[in-house]
Amino acid sequence: MLQAENVNAYYGKLQVLHELSLTITDGERVGIFGHNGAGKTTLLKSLVGDVSQVDGTIHYHQHAILAGQVHLNVRRGIGFVPQGNNVFRELSVEQNLRIAGLMHDTAYAESVYGIFPILKERQLQQAGSLSGGQQQMLALGMALMTRPRILLLDEPTTGLAPIVVKDVLSSVRTINQSEGTTVLIVEQNVQATLQEVERAIVLKAGRVIFDGASKQLLEENNLWHLF
Ligand SMILES: Nc1ncnc2c1ncn2[C@@H]1O[C@H](COP(=O)(O)OP(=O)(O)OP(=O)(O)O)[C@@H](O)[C@H]1O
Ligand SMILES: [Mg+2]
Repeated sequence: MLQAENVNAYYGKLQVLHELSLTITDGERVGIFGHNGAGKTTLLKSLVGDVSQVDGTIHYHQHAILAGQVHLNVRRGIGFVPQGNNVFRELSVEQNLRIAGLMHDTAYAESVYGIFPILKERQLQQAGSLSGGQQQMLALGMALMTRPRILLLDEPTTGLAPIVVKDVLSSVRTINQSEGTTVLIVEQNVQATLQEVERAIVLKAGRVIFDGASKQLLEENNLWHLF
């Protein structure tokens, strides 16, 4: 279980998260939504210990998540895929996976290929020449190489065509269902993501303004009043 209680996060004098509390149960798929600047990335970074000015408490399975201890938190099973380019473009698909798995087990690449067969097909191709969607799958695969129990994904579908967005989002569900990995995903593709997650959290100006079943948001016609 990942539990944040009364978390405030700041960059200098700017307070971005305000008394934010949430609990993520093992095995859940949760979407986090909200406008640009709402604090979604800051929340994910805080959960992995990558924001230096945080107060309140964050625990993952009884361990306190401390600021500046990203390496320790990753070892405890928290995987984080940041927004943007996350692959070594000059290296092959296989080399990318092996580097990501160095701390653990490079042979696990075979299991990653099981989830993303396209990566197996492109094993020797330079990562920089993969399509955008394939690069995102490689970034997800690299995160899986660290054998996370919980995966924090920051907008994995940015810049992708709608059809590829669906592929990437459904692979997130596959990871959750085949590996039992808990998934916390920040997305701007709200409708498509709501189809893949069980629970939705909406942030507005650093506060939780909705936390409930994704179905509830899907069924609500005036969903946008929340944003
Ligand atoms: N390193 C930083 N230093 C100073 N201010 C920052 C820093 N990172 C983010 N901010 C500010 O904190 C606020 C929240 O940013 P954050 O990146 O968490 O938003 P977001 O919800 O992820 O937005 P987006 O949808 O655009 O990715 C913004 O006002 C942003 O300008
Ligand atoms: Mg962001």
